Amino acid sequence: MDDGSKKRVFSGVQPTGKVTLGNYLGAIKNWTPLQEQYECLFCVVDLHSLTVTQVPAELRKNTMDLVALYIACGLDPNKSALFIQSHVHEHAELAWILDTIAYVGELNRMTQFKDKSRKHADNINMGLMNYPVLMASDILLYNADLIPVGKDQVQHVELTRDLAQRFNARYSDTFVVPEALLNKAGQSIKSLQDPTAKMSKSDPNDNAIISLTDDADTIRRKLRRAVTDSDTCVRHGADKPAISNLLNVYSLCSGLSIADAEKIFEGKGYGVFKDAVADAVISVVSPIQEEQKRLLADKAYLEGVLKQGAEQAESIARKTLSKVYRKVGLIPRIR
Ligand code: TYM
Repeated sequence: MDDGSKKRVFSGVQPTGKVTLGNYLGAIKNWTPLQEQYECLFCVVDLHSLTVTQVPAELRKNTMDLVALYIACGLDPNKSALFIQSHVHEHAELAWILDTIAYVGELNRMTQFKDKSRKHADNINMGLMNYPVLMASDILLYNADLIPVGKDQVQHVELTRDLAQRFNARYSDTFVVPEALLNKAGQSIKSLQDPTAKMSKSDPNDNAIISLTDDADTIRRKLRRAVTDSDTCVRHGADKPAISNLLNVYSLCSGLSIADAEKIFEGKGYGVFKDAVADAVISVVSPIQEEQKRLLADKAYLEGVLKQGAEQAESIARKTLSKVYRKVGLIPRIR
């Protein structure tokens, strides 16, 4: 962490279900290089996960798995604050204040709220609707400048900007107005079974997603079964959504450009191409899995990382929240 002169970065992933290749290529992979340039905080957003029904023991396991995954993907606890959202109680407290300036109408319009309400029609809870306000709280609490996310989260970052500006206008300048940071190629990795839909953790069809816990055989099998487009040509283009998605995945995992990949697979057909995509994905995912396993066996180390991360985050969060409490007219507690 730094003295405050660098721009600040904040992002997070929910410890819900299986983390997908979409989460990795769209978000986590892009966080690693940012550590060199910015003051970074990366959070496991466990409170957000509670908006859909969780099995408590599974939530606990998924949370620690995700902490280990962050580090296995290259996040360095000596460069970034890595922490669990619920360990810093200011997130929930600032969310309440932001709730008082967020309009029901704007939350009702959020695409993810509408999607999730359809998928969980039996559990449209207030948390689900409030979800973007808690996300705004995560970001504004740290006055983060840059928010590296996938495309599906851009609308939530826009809402965060609106809330920051609204608060600043009403109570004087308080929050930095953040910006979403997108990686063009990885911003929306698509389902392997429907290239018009994003690859999503909650997809009931396991063949549609590559999970970061899938073994090599499973990855190869899922990619062989991935839907393709009508002709047999390996080419990127709006008329070829399925192959374009696989080319994006191949390019991000192999480090080769799309143009080079198109040349390599010219005239080779989909079978050869899909096997090469599988090789590239496995070469990225396998070392991460091994490192994650090694880290999970060292509980004391992970707990040390989380303790340090929460302390770093809390020292910033506490200051922001007390400033906000003061500005809205709450009396500070006498100690
Ligand atoms: P979550 O857990 O759904 O996803 C974590 C990150 O992965 C990105 N992502 C994708 N990127 C490309 N292609 C895909 N198919 C794909 N699927 C998911 C998401 O855009 C996200 O960046 N609300 C957030 C978590 C959050 C957060 C925050 C993020 C809570 N507070 C503050 C940034 C800042 C979410 O549910 O992400």
